[in-house]
Amino acid sequence: MSAQPDGSDHAIHYVVRAAITAPSLHNSQPWLFVGRGGDILLYADLTRRLPSTDPNGRELVVSCGAALFNLRLAMRHLGFRPVVHPLPTPRLPRLLAQVSWGAYARPTAGEELLYRAMRERRTHRGPFQSTPLPAPLIEALRLQALAEGAELHTVVDPAQQHRLAAVVHRAESFQRSDPDCTAELMGWTQPHRSCRYDGVPSEATPFHPDSALLAGRDFTGWSRPSRGDGSAGPLLTRTGLVALLNTPRDTPQDWLRAGQALQRVLLYATSHTISAGFHTQPLEIPSLRADIRTMIPSRQSPQMILRLGHTNWTWRTPRRPVEDVMLADVPPRACPLDV
Ligand SMILES: Cc1cc2nc3c(=O)[nH]c(=O)nc-3n(C[C@H](O)[C@H](O)[C@H](O)COP(=O)(O)O)c2cc1C
Repeated sequence: MSAQPDGSDHAIHYVVRAAITAPSLHNSQPWLFVGRGGDILLYADLTRRLPSTDPNGRELVVSCGAALFNLRLAMRHLGFRPVVHPLPTPRLPRLLAQVSWGAYARPTAGEELLYRAMRERRTHRGPFQSTPLPAPLIEALRLQALAEGAELHTVVDPAQQHRLAAVVHRAESFQRSDPDCTAELMGWTQPHRSCRYDGVPSEATPFHPDSALLAGRDFTGWSRPSRGDGSAGPLLTRTGLVALLNTPRDTPQDWLRAGQALQRVLLYATSHTISAGFHTQPLEIPSLRADIRTMIPSRQSPQMILRLGHTNWTWRTPRRPVEDVMLADVPPRACPLDV
């Protein structure tokens, strides 16, 4: 392919289909896309916000950032350099990015590796196999985050891991006893064999939420109050690599950057048969997020808490059809997306 695409429906459809395989908080898929004059506009779908869990929309923007990375990668796969204008209109915070088709350039082997991982990536909830990640791979994951302007700080000291686990436990205990957070979580949890295209299916949560060192979200309502306080037994040795993804500041620009860095790290990990689990509960409570920040030597802003490791277990969560996330035109100002 040597000509710049005219932003045809076909090309846009193709890259949006890739974008929406991204992870999102509770699989809320809070994104919308508009093709305009050959460009692609990425909007936050504020009707899909989680006001109790994510009151300032930080994780919504992180999720959209992950979708943006996929969109960029799919354009690279087609042989074009994406030209991204993040948050092009500061007074319209729902418009998160404008992406144009740049010059032709053959995708690199590294980009193709990440592209192929996109459809294989899944969130893992529960213990990992005890095989550790090799040091060169950990260093490569750090470089992937750095390439997107973020820091991947690994927490290897057992005392620090337990300190982090205690904060996750406090957050999870709070959220399990908070009626608003619980109602929100249940609203985004799918019953067995559900036909919904969003939310977390019960099949994606096969393990007890307290079966790893860091307490998991209680999507099933099995286990209030949280036991994830470091006393959960032999499975604790199967925590995997614990890491914090951080950004220099904490603006919407940083959140969007964090999402792109997250997805780049996840795809690189997937391409090396490594899965990830997330434990972002303490980052949703300002005082606990401040505690986490004190654990980061660089004092950057924590955006994600991850575990990375080997597992044979996977479950593919559904996505809404492309047609549901593509608008024919820029949403009118009076629509519910306006903040
Ligand atoms: C910003 C963000 C926060 C997340 N936090 C959690 C979490 O705390 N616990 C969890 O189990 N999954 C978490 N996830 C993963 C989502 O639940 C998951 O991406 C979604 O269900 C789609 O599934 P998939 O990643 O397997 O495609 C988070 C994802 C994102 C992008």
